[in-house]
Amino acid sequence: MTASGAATVHAVHENPDWWPPFAAAFDAEGVPVQQWLLTGDAGLDLAEEPPAGVFWSRMSASAHTRGHDRSIAHTRALLRWLEGHGRRVVNGSAVLELEVSKVAQDAALRAAGLDTPRTVVAFSPEQVLEGARRLRADGVTSMVTKHNQGGKGLGVQRFDDLAALERHLASPAWLEPVDGVALVQEYVAPAEPFVTRAEFVGGRFLYALAASTAQGFELCPADACGVDGAPLFRLREGHVPPALAGYEEFLARTGVEVAGIEYIETADGRVVTYDVNTNTNYNPDVEAVAPASGPREIARYLGSL
Ligand SMILES: Nc1ncnc2c1ncn2[C@@H]1O[C@H](COP(=O)(O)OP(=O)(O)OP(=O)(O)O)[C@@H](O)[C@H]1O
Ligand SMILES: [Mg+2]
Repeated sequence: MTASGAATVHAVHENPDWWPPFAAAFDAEGVPVQQWLLTGDAGLDLAEEPPAGVFWSRMSASAHTRGHDRSIAHTRALLRWLEGHGRRVVNGSAVLELEVSKVAQDAALRAAGLDTPRTVVAFSPEQVLEGARRLRADGVTSMVTKHNQGGKGLGVQRFDDLAALERHLASPAWLEPVDGVALVQEYVAPAEPFVTRAEFVGGRFLYALAASTAQGFELCPADACGVDGAPLFRLREGHVPPALAGYEEFLARTGVEVAGIEYIETADGRVVTYDVNTNTNYNPDVEAVAPASGPREIARYLGSL
């Protein structure tokens, strides 16, 4: 406990570049916070008591793309140690396993009664092609490939033509997934050219933003603008996720406390949920006009625990 009475929050992550908005938010809320960087610089003594306070993991599935290939394995060890000592961990070890596996996300979303894209899991490029043939046989005409351990739209590419997919798999453009697990899934056509991300803090819906699909797939919400200066992200003012009750059930069942859930609304009335992010970098332009601030709500929530 500090003089103000609030326990310190320890933020477990690996990318200091993403930290400044959170530092500012915790400061503004008067909640003491420290970064716990998982970049391999310090080990753990399992017999030692972890520091007092609340721990919050925002470990990212794409850590390996920043040279932090082992951060996820290191975080697994850290979170087990903290949980073993009875520390309060927000987005703990079970949530980390969801963050790093779109297969795990799909299973948990479906268990909560949500509609997800028809998906085949492939352990080799040959199986990606076999999966695409299987989807084709089921009447799926357009498909996307992606990585099980994703983030930043890694390996996300659309194919309407199996011959083009076959050429892609044999070319240097094919990127081997870091965990050896690729997905090929039904391309879900949005009714309007955007996907939606609904932000949740403490299991509670905060706001939704629309991410334009006009310029393709490799979207990172921290970057505000597209090539022609048109914003890629905008607040969906007043929008309530059509599947909100299902999301609340999903979050309760999985123990996810902080998340951005992505979905597509189709012309024929489907709401298809395809991605769960447990470490949003809140877009500054959206934050400027949103009814609540993601980082501020997180600071307040963690401060209340
Ligand atoms: N099945 C699909 N049908 C249509 N579009 C899709 C589908 N899956 C993914 N997309 C598009 O590709 C983008 C990236 O896919 P996805 O979110 O699954 O990957 P990611 O690696 O988790 O990316 P991020 O970290 O940016 O969320 C989506 O935001 C969406 O625009
Ligand atoms: Mg996504």
